[in-house]
Amino acid sequence: MRNTILSLWFAMAAFAQVKAPMDEASLRNGQTLYQFHCAFCHGKGDDGMAANLVTPNLVHAPTDSSLVNIIRVGIPGTDMPPALGMSDEEMLQVAGYVRSLGRSAPVSVEGNAANGKAIYMGKGGCAGCHMVGGVGGKMGPDLTLIGAMRSPSNLRTSIVEPNAAMVGGWTMVHVTLKSGTKVSGIRMNEDNFHISLRDSKGKIQTLAKADATKIDRDLTKSSMPAYGKVFSGAEMTDLIAYLFSLRGAM
Ligand code: HEC
Ligand code: HEC
Repeated sequence: MRNTILSLWFAMAAFAQVKAPMDEASLRNGQTLYQFHCAFCHGKGDDGMAANLVTPNLVHAPTDSSLVNIIRVGIPGTDMPPALGMSDEEMLQVAGYVRSLGRSAPVSVEGNAANGKAIYMGKGGCAGCHMVGGVGGKMGPDLTLIGAMRSPSNLRTSIVEPNAAMVGGWTMVHVTLKSGTKVSGIRMNEDNFHISLRDSKGKIQTLAKADATKIDRDLTKSSMPAYGKVFSGAEMTDLIAYLFSLRGAM
């Protein structure tokens, strides 16, 4: 009886189309879970002893629902086991991470990623604002997994035209205090009486609004400079190749 109900439930779960989350927090959790539950057999995805997961077309898992179902019950008659001790939400997160591995697989990017990294660290000054693998600044989003999250063309837009690719949560605020002092930073927190900003040195300042004469917010303008004219075409291609290679340290 219990088995009947369970298989009925699995059938319904497989039928109801679920969507694996692709936001950064979920991908991160998914990656951690993947390392714990899956990497033993699948390696980084394309170098393990089990099936290659770095492909846009998983034979057994054409949809997110079927992918979650494989994670839940394994593939009967093969060495692919059911996942143990994972919640539904966690299975979805692993599914999202597996999708991210395959998502951009067919798009081969031109360019030299090593060169791109040198541009990122050097001429671009990107590390001043962004973290990769725990190194860098905090004035922009962490880019450790950016290659799994964004397509090459989306990455290009972010660099050439940051205002067209704003991600939210990075509002730059400029406060003028009664003393005449100006303070600028990324908005961390705000209520009726206070506003907290993180300045370019990483220092968090909490200011009383009563002490301010002016508070300006850049709601439609990204604090990231537009780099369209900074790089040559070849440099741009190399930089994108580098960003596209960032899929988390495994
Ligand atoms: C004990 C080793 C092992 C573990 C652990 C394991 N797998 Fe697998 N997996 C396999 C094998 C072997 C296959 C190939 C099965 C077959 O012959 O079709 C496979 C197949 C798959 C497939 C189907 C690939 C396709 O092309 O359709 C997916 C998706 C998959 N695994 C995901 C995962 C995920 C996600 C995890 C972790 C939650 C995981 N596996 C854990 C061994 C493993
Ligand atoms: C002054 C700080 C600053 C610098 C320097 C900077 N960025 Fe950014 N970057 C940001 C901010 C802030 C955002 C978030 C966009 C927004 O919503 O305003 C961002 C967004 C991005 C995104 C999109 C992230 C996403 O989730 O889609 C990419 C990719 C990116 N930056 C790459 C770069 C590269 C490559 C460089 C160097 C050439 C660079 N950035 C230099 C601040 C900066």
